[in-house]
Parts: sequence; C-alpha cells; structure tokens
Amino acid sequence: MSSALKARSESIPVESKVDAKKRAEIAAGIGRALASTYVLYHKTHGFHWNVTGPLFYSVHKLTDDQYQDLAEAVDDLAERIRALGEPAPMGLDGYLRDSVVEDVNDFPDVEGMVKQLARDHLAVADQMRDIVARADSAGDVYSADLLTARIGVHEEAAWMLNAIALK
Ligand SMILES: [Fe+2]
Repeated sequence: MSSALKARSESIPVESKVDAKKRAEIAAGIGRALASTYVLYHKTHGFHWNVTGPLFYSVHKLTDDQYQDLAEAVDDLAERIRALGEPAPMGLDGYLRDSVVEDVNDFPDVEGMVKQLARDHLAVADQMRDIVARADSAGDVYSADLLTARIGVHEEAAWMLNAIALK
C-alpha cells in the first residue's frame, strides 16, 4: 500500500496566536458540544418519526427543520476541531458519555416530546456558554462566534418547541 493511503491525520500543526494548550482545551470543549448535538440530532429524528396526534404535522415539520440543522452543526463543530489542530471525536460510546442530552430508547406523548426537546436545547446552549467564555479569553474569536451562533439557534429551537406545548 502506498504511504499516501496509509496517512493518518490526528493532530495537525497550527500556527496561531491562540496558545496551543488553550486550543486543545477549546477543541475538547467543542467535542463535548458536538457529542450533545449528535445525541440531540438522534433524539429529534426519532421523535420526528414517532410523533402522532392532532399536532402531528407541526411537530413532524419542526423536528424535520431541527434535525437537519443539528446534522449540519455536527459537521461544522467537527471541522472547527480539525481547524484547531485536534482530531474530531468519533465513537457513539464517547458521545453518550460527553453529552448533556440524555439518550432515550422510547418516546413520550407529543407534549412530552416538545418539552423534552426544548429542555435539551437549552442544556446544550448552557454547555456551549462555558466554552464561549474560554474561547473568548484565549482570543479564539472564531470558535466563540461559532458557538455563540449555535446558542442562538438552540434558544430559538427551545422557544418554538415550548410555544407548541403551551395550552
Ligand atoms: Fe422525515
């Protein structure tokens, strides 16, 4: 096999004003946010499939938009970790360990679905807030900006889900 095919890229040297040790810490934080985003993606997709009742279309459509956004976010977070020079985390075991979103094997009724997803979105936003503060103080403005934008998306998602649950 040619050496080109055997190449593995774990850590990549990065010349940056952001201190290398802090970059690795920020990448680890983004990795935990990625884990939560991945588990929330999976749960949102499962609820999208299993929702029933008079709110079927609203919840089915909203969760469609949301799982697609979460899938794109997973990719953006992983690629930011690579740009910081670190390997992107793999393995579902690790995702489940690092996620602030609880994995579930069953689904509640529709009210339970939207309330649970809203809580999960706000938990992910809170998890990201700590990393924004760390990235900001290290001068990693792009990571801070990326996560700040994600916090906005998660808070908006929670609003929309909670609005459905109001009676
Ligand atoms: Fe679908």
